Amino acid sequence: MNSKKTAVDGGNHAALWHGRFKEGPDQAAVAFETSIHTDARMCFDDIKGSIAHATMLGKTGIIPQNEADSIVKELGVISDDIASGKLKIDTDAEDIHSFIEGVLTDRLGDVGRKVHTGRSRNDQIALDERLYLKRIIPDLQKEIANLMQTLVSIAEKHTDSLLSGYTHMQRAQPVTLGQHLCAWCQMLKRDYERLEDALKRIDLSPLGAGALAGSGLPLNREMTAESLGFSGVTANSLDTVADRDYCIEFVSCFSLLQMHLSRFCEEVVIWSTEEFKFINLSEKWSTGSSIMPQKKNPDFAELIRGRTGKVYGDLIALLTMMKGLPLSYNRDMQEDKQSLFDAYDTVFSCTKIFNYMIGSAEWNTKRMSDSCTGGYANATDLADYLVCKGMPFRTAHGVAASAVRAGIEAGKNLEDMSLEDLKKISPLIENDVFERLKPAFCVAARKTTGGPAHERICDQINSLKLFFNSL
Ligand code: ARG
Repeated sequence: MNSKKTAVDGGNHAALWHGRFKEGPDQAAVAFETSIHTDARMCFDDIKGSIAHATMLGKTGIIPQNEADSIVKELGVISDDIASGKLKIDTDAEDIHSFIEGVLTDRLGDVGRKVHTGRSRNDQIALDERLYLKRIIPDLQKEIANLMQTLVSIAEKHTDSLLSGYTHMQRAQPVTLGQHLCAWCQMLKRDYERLEDALKRIDLSPLGAGALAGSGLPLNREMTAESLGFSGVTANSLDTVADRDYCIEFVSCFSLLQMHLSRFCEEVVIWSTEEFKFINLSEKWSTGSSIMPQKKNPDFAELIRGRTGKVYGDLIALLTMMKGLPLSYNRDMQEDKQSLFDAYDTVFSCTKIFNYMIGSAEWNTKRMSDSCTGGYANATDLADYLVCKGMPFRTAHGVAASAVRAGIEAGKNLEDMSLEDLKKISPLIENDVFERLKPAFCVAARKTTGGPAHERICDQINSLKLFFNSL
């Protein structure tokens, strides 16, 4: 291979570990093992962790206070320089930790060489990931809440817009668009809360776990934990550097969220067909065909549905990467970040785009309401009607089924059959049945908590609004 000096074999910023080696590694080896392209996005978290660590080193007297002060000050300057673009991250460095330490040492000389006292990249990377997740997860939660708010504002306008509910993709019982959208909101609310819950578990500082066995230096772990905003420190140094549960847990949360978006997208695709025509996507969030001039395709829903495979793939990659690793740190674990970041980026953009797409769509309430008639979606209501007249439900189910059969044979909906015909099926049926079989009545009758009746949907909308106010 060519002889260009790299960071790993003693170039600009020599690898932190080059001292033990007589020979530098092969160029191809370097290209294969470095992680700077992936972990550079945690540069500010890495610097933040180093500032807390150096401050603690000074306060505990492990390094002189004035040196700790210069390290902290220079790390602040490095952070500003990266933010302003004055300092470019050198992709020849092995990883973000090496790069920051290298720049610090360039600028401060031997003082910079003290920043890694009592620390390993193993506890450092665990810290960077936790700080990064604590910083970015709230952004995703905000996107989820925004989407929920969009859905609630549509639901509010459609508390009484009739829609057939489906099971097995067959018309089942009438509901409303309001209730349907609130159903998606409940799933998204759980997705939001799952992230909140996972955040609690990463709220412990790994710093001080060292490479695996803690430190013989009098580090004050609680001090760094507190200054970094953690509620405490991790309990076992081996576990600390070997743990990637949190990556798997977050990507599981992302997978569930993405699965919900994907299901909703499937519905959008179906509902936007000529056959259904329940929803009309905005032209801004549709695409056309290069050959068929009439086409308006729901590509955004399809792309979100399609990207779900990527997120699940990231989850499987992480689970598989971890499944054979003995304690404690193993380099396999470096591969966690690609999966974690890819899953986050995917689910973040999909949530945002879905919100735009659904928020700009039009709802065809006439088509939806028409879906409640034809298909005998009120057959359960006929059975309930007979139950109210004292008939045992199983018998009522049989009677309503006979009515459906008679309707199919006569080519009529239940409500279009004559009283005389219905009475032949059960003498308990009276004229009031026709009111009871209207879809609006079916919906209004279902007043159980969580049901589609107007009052119940208003309850749901109100409690979702309370949830938004609590955020
Ligand atoms: N790039 C490494 C990772 O992401 C950082 C820790 C390196 N530790 C080591 N012993 N080589 O896991």
